[in-house]
Amino acid sequence: MELKVIDTHSHYDDEAFDEDRDELLKKMLRESVDKIITIGCTMERSRMALELAEKYENIYCAVGIHPEDCYELQADYLEELRKMAQSSKKVVAIGEIGLDYHSEGYKKEKQIEVFKEQLILAKELSLPVVIHSREATLDTMEILREFKPEGVMHCFSGSAEIAREIIDLGMMISFTGVITFKNAKKAVESCSAIPLDRIMLETDCPYMAPVPYRGKRNISSYVYNIAEKIAEIKGITVKEAIETCNENAVRFFGLNK
Ligand code: NI
Repeated sequence: MELKVIDTHSHYDDEAFDEDRDELLKKMLRESVDKIITIGCTMERSRMALELAEKYENIYCAVGIHPEDCYELQADYLEELRKMAQSSKKVVAIGEIGLDYHSEGYKKEKQIEVFKEQLILAKELSLPVVIHSREATLDTMEILREFKPEGVMHCFSGSAEIAREIIDLGMMISFTGVITFKNAKKAVESCSAIPLDRIMLETDCPYMAPVPYRGKRNISSYVYNIAEKIAEIKGITVKEAIETCNENAVRFFGLNK
């Protein structure tokens, strides 16, 4: 594979990579992957993401608190995040942050509070945000309209109408392997409805492996399979899809620093 991909959303701190993390990352960065952004979900996992980013020239990270992990935060968690974000140029975003009403017993008010606090922090730090929204579209959109962050909506599988509104707010949208699934009609329609210069590619690995790896451990080189699908939807070559989405990622996250 001559053309290397950029994976804008991954979780290499995950235990699914404990057996072969360094070996796998070195091989992919040598052969098929140009850059990787590994995303934090908790304070501890954000710290692990930063350690990986410090270790590899072409790995970057985001630090942030995922909505499902927002219930037992230390009182000074925002200060800790701020320090971490300011400690290294390899921190290129605050994320992933947002709302998740999927799991049982979720607390809406707390999630909204922590989401907003991190949106404000990102603005203060002039960093973009990586947004996670699951079964929470109405509340997420209301907050995005209010804050208008420099952000990307990650793992997007919503309607074309919502996709257009996100683009109108000035944001980016990133697609995972979900767009290659047979039942991904909405994601495909959304991808058709928005311009290529607002699209980024991501694996969300180790989850969400694209066809033909569905159900297996996902890895960053499978971004290629997502690019193939985007190319098919947009009626362009895979090379063009990869080049444009790579440029979008470099520009949006300010990579190359
Ligand atoms: Ni994720």
